[in-house]
Amino acid sequence: MLDDHEGPIQDYVQGMSAANMRTRDVKRPIVSPLRYPGGKSSLYSRLRAIVRANNLTTGTYVEPYAGGAGAALGLLATGQVRRIVINDLDPAIFAFWTAVVKFPAEFSELINRVDLTVDEWVKQKSVYAEAPRDDYLRLGFATFFLNRTNRSGVLNGGPIGGMDQTGNYKIDARFNRSTLVERIRIVGLHANRITVSNLDGMSVIKRYSKRANTLIYADPPYFEKAGSLYMNSFKAGDHAALADCLNGLRESNWLLTYDNAPEVETLYANRRREVFSLGYSAHRVVKAKEIMVFSDKLEIA
Ligand SMILES: C[S@@+](CC[C@H](N)C(=O)[O-])C[C@H]1O[C@@H](n2cnc3c(N)ncnc32)[C@H](O)[C@@H]1O
Repeated sequence: MLDDHEGPIQDYVQGMSAANMRTRDVKRPIVSPLRYPGGKSSLYSRLRAIVRANNLTTGTYVEPYAGGAGAALGLLATGQVRRIVINDLDPAIFAFWTAVVKFPAEFSELINRVDLTVDEWVKQKSVYAEAPRDDYLRLGFATFFLNRTNRSGVLNGGPIGGMDQTGNYKIDARFNRSTLVERIRIVGLHANRITVSNLDGMSVIKRYSKRANTLIYADPPYFEKAGSLYMNSFKAGDHAALADCLNGLRESNWLLTYDNAPEVETLYANRRREVFSLGYSAHRVVKAKEIMVFSDKLEIA
């Protein structure tokens, strides 16, 4: 599964215990506690190079469509950037990040104590559906629980191993308590340098694009395949509105990734673009072609 292609750690993760540091062939730090279909933590090295080439190491790195925020946390925890902004419009994802940043100790205790059974899964599913959206700890934990126990991390999917637990992998297959507690601890260590918000991505882009020493990495819902993978608030007009917004930001440091749909070439015809591949598991596609678009100002590394 995507999140658990855990390449060993290349850069020193501040505060990470030796047990979580890997020494084999080196790829990227895994700090995000969430599994995310189409997650971009594997872009860590590329983003690090871009941060350095643009002299942004003392600056703020912003993910307006953050999801699992794997790349953001990797950059923060290894000291590549000073601050990060994690924004997501999905109230459940927002509750998760708020809970982890504000209450890491309580969150870890829940990880250590929760039963990893189908009965518990049923309970957490109803908390996820019914908890008040501002009950960050309960809603955030339910979101996390489903993310770690559902097939491919898809929040409205079924549990790993099925309701009857007859599959090869069981409900606890992606719930290694000590690894997850360690990731929560690391996020908690850096909490005062993390801003979490629950706004529309475009308003976050507009707000931060005016600030110096800032890099915005936008990874909006895809044109295709978004389906039920994560909350998808985007319609055709929203993709076009985002393009209008980003294309107008000539003096800002931003980059964008999408699935390599023909619309991207049309919407971003005048920007520099690059096709790349990402390991991808939610639809059993091993290599997906994605596209990266760069603002005119950005030094590409
Ligand atoms: C492609 S995923 C981002 C994955 C992320 N880059 C990662 O590495 O995990 C898109 C995210 O945008 C969020 N989203 C959808 N519509 C949004 C909107 N209008 N504003 C902000 N976030 C939105 C979804 O909840 C989802 O988490």
